[in-house]
Amino acid sequence: MIGVMFVCLGNICRSPMAEGAFRKHVEAAGLGAHFRILSSGTAGYHVGEAPDPRAQKTALGHGVDISMLRGRQLVKEDLASFDYVVAMDRSNWTNIQKLYKRGHTAKTSMLLEELPDAGTTEVPDPYYGGDAGFEHVWSLVDRAGARLLARLRRAHGL
Ligand code: 4NP
Repeated sequence: MIGVMFVCLGNICRSPMAEGAFRKHVEAAGLGAHFRILSSGTAGYHVGEAPDPRAQKTALGHGVDISMLRGRQLVKEDLASFDYVVAMDRSNWTNIQKLYKRGHTAKTSMLLEELPDAGTTEVPDPYYGGDAGFEHVWSLVDRAGARLLARLRRAHGL
């Protein structure tokens, strides 16, 4: 199983949307049995909470139900048990590096490295904005998720 962990700050907006979009691409490719997919936040403010209602509504509008996801905080053990740990923005990436210790094996990256034509390297935090911000996030994580899957299929011969 290839473990893929998406990471943002609160795990109620961007990373649950990235998780849902990536899972959609994996399932559409018939590869669900090959992947373990999860998301988490570097902060613990929203542990146990469902995704933000705006994130749920946006994902559902694109055919993806993320209502069953629950907020979870990234722990250092995730950097050994997941193969890929994918940050939404630079600050998330920096926080991931702070947990990274000897023996950790996950490859860490920023999601928008998959999408060099996006015009931005960071998925913007939509929390304090309106619905348009969530649609923009969906567009980014959906397109980048497709590219990430294509890259992992090549890397793992799937
Ligand atoms: P996320 O958005 O990192 O995309 O889940 C946020 C959600 C909550 C907070 C910040 C960002 N917060 O400060 O509570």
